[in-house]
Amino acid sequence: MRQTGIGLAAALAALSVTASVHGTAVDRVSPTFAADVAPIVYNNCASCHRPGQAAPFSLLSYDDVKRRATLIVNSATAGAFPTPTSRR
Ligand code: HEC
Repeated sequence: MRQTGIGLAAALAALSVTASVHGTAVDRVSPTFAADVAPIVYNNCASCHRPGQAAPFSLLSYDDVKRRATLIVNSATAGAFPTPTSRR
């Protein structure tokens, strides 16, 4: 899970950069939500981060993840999340 967190953090950090220049140049090597972030989040996070499950917010859509990108990056790089209680 620690590996996943770091990979996700890197993808999200790059995604934030990509999103901030959205509408200008499109860098083909930049990660995208659909290709890079969604598979990680769906496989590792969405089981809890979806409506009706334990986690306090959903991580199913680009907007869900983008809105919390900084929080996710900080938590993942600090090793603070997944928390001991949520670790599988
Ligand atoms: C087993 C269930 C579960 C899984 C899997 C899970 N979460 Fe969570 N998540 C929670 C719960 C419950 C909380 C509420 C805070 C807590 O109890 O730690 C939470 C809170 C968070 C928070 C808020 C900050 C914090 O530390 O509390 C972030 C960010 C987060 N999750 C990101 C993720 C990401 C990214 C993934 C996938 C890599 C993920 N979560 C996978 C259950 C889960």
